Amino acid sequence: MSQMRNLVLIGLMGAGKTSVGRHLAQLLGWEFLDTDHVLEERCGADIPWIFDIEGEAGFRRRETEVLEDLCQRENTVIATGGGIVLSQHNRSLLKTCGTVVYLSATPEQLYARVAHDTHRPLLQVENPEAVLAKLLQEREPLYLEVASLVVPSEPNRSAKYMADQLVARLAELQS
Ligand code: S3P
Repeated sequence: MSQMRNLVLIGLMGAGKTSVGRHLAQLLGWEFLDTDHVLEERCGADIPWIFDIEGEAGFRRRETEVLEDLCQRENTVIATGGGIVLSQHNRSLLKTCGTVVYLSATPEQLYARVAHDTHRPLLQVENPEAVLAKLLQEREPLYLEVASLVVPSEPNRSAKYMADQLVARLAELQS
């Protein structure tokens, strides 16, 4: 994996970026960072609070700052928030940051993973599954624009299994 600078995971909420990312970092012997966690740590507040006080625009500004910093790194597995691809600036950054992997999933799979979540402001609505379907439709072209590899979610497979598969596919990509 010596040619990769970083490994960046993108995809919608519930795609498994954080859990797969942690296993990947372990397999590669790399550090793991998550843009949402770094942002919360820096801000000293959680994401729902930031959305409440600064709105989504404030959150996006902070998210871009975090991405700019994390892209300076090397040998890091970076899990990103699902909306990271929304700005052209972020998409350009992602392309230079490392190998970008899109963890894709159907709205049903995504919903199954986030159904009881209260930490994601965009899903605190009456019909979160419909929101996920809409976001998927809007964002999938953007995920595909920046990704070097697309890894579809497999039902009933663990994050560890997904990470093992991904490492094998990355090795193929580089051979
Ligand atoms: C968001 C996804 C979240 C977080 C924020 C906004 C989005 O991250 O960044 O709630 O716009 O899709 P995860 O994809 O890690 O849940």
